[in-house]
Amino acid sequence: MTGHDLESVALTLVAEGKGILAADETVPTLTRRFDALGIRSTEENRRTYREMLFTTSGAAEFMGGVIMQDETIRQKSSAGTPLAEVLSGQGILPGIKVDTGAKPLAGSPHETVTEGLDGLRDRLAAYRGMGARFAKWRAVIHLDDVLPSLGCVSANAHALARYAALCQEQNLVPIVEPEVLMDGSHTIERCEEITGAVLHAVFHALFEQGVALEGMLLKPNMVIAGKECSRQAPVHEVATATLRCLRRHAPAAVPGIVFLSGGQNARLATTHLNEINRLPGPKPWKVSFSYGRALQDPALEAWHGRDENLSAGQRALYHRASCNGAASVGKYTDEVEAGAPGADDPPHRRDWRDD
Ligand code: 13P
Repeated sequence: MTGHDLESVALTLVAEGKGILAADETVPTLTRRFDALGIRSTEENRRTYREMLFTTSGAAEFMGGVIMQDETIRQKSSAGTPLAEVLSGQGILPGIKVDTGAKPLAGSPHETVTEGLDGLRDRLAAYRGMGARFAKWRAVIHLDDVLPSLGCVSANAHALARYAALCQEQNLVPIVEPEVLMDGSHTIERCEEITGAVLHAVFHALFEQGVALEGMLLKPNMVIAGKECSRQAPVHEVATATLRCLRRHAPAAVPGIVFLSGGQNARLATTHLNEINRLPGPKPWKVSFSYGRALQDPALEAWHGRDENLSAGQRALYHRASCNGAASVGKYTDEVEAGAPGADDPPHRRDWRDD
């Protein structure tokens, strides 16, 4: 694959009206989500759930790609087709999470550094052979009055850049995900300051490692107040601060910015994305979604581990995917949302967290 091919895969992921479904929860994370609903986390149940999501009729219209994790990319559908082929057969690009998780950072016990670089070249080659066209690595930044430390930001930026360079070498488009968490009581202003500093460090590291910006996607958090902050900024303020921060720190050569939902409820994540796309002024990148919880929560809730609910689960996913597809072009309205099955937060999901 040439640099041009990487760019065309990146652009396909964020084609007009499309975004990405993040369905790459690790087994322990998905088990916690299943446990909350009383669903047994067997390999078969996890496969059934992912197959339900991946075979949702019409969802390909709004999903340029789906991110899987190791177990899923090795699984086959009930008809015996590898799940990666189930996706590519519908024109959805298969992707793969390749980090091995956020681990305690030596010397700073409340912070983490994401691991997984050892042996990564060989793992990427193997995933490419299984049909993956893009990859994901998530760095996690904890925020309070003092944190993050410089050491945490630079260690995570370095790892993201090393990962991204290896992906491009192995013909995979890297999704670069530095997530500043919503946990805590910080203000939106503090989130903007730290998100900007983190993006600055990440793009500096990407430059040092020779990553071609045209052949990657950025997956950032939105600029938003901490969940426990007494002042939650209104939608327009979140959108304005997020776009300002990205204009300052995300180079125009990056083809697309695909937000994580980070614990926002499903409708709010859609509303914020829509508002960002409706703001005036330059947006040199496609601005879309790569949501996990905000796309899956209503579908998981509707399915509830029962075969008789598979089509209800698919309807719920289709609905959220179509709403977010509309938001990715600034055309989400109350009418588009109307009739949404279960779009609000189910009460059990507040502690859901990927590792
Ligand atoms: P959320 O949208 O649930 O934050 O998940 C996105 C993701 O891929 C986290 O790494």
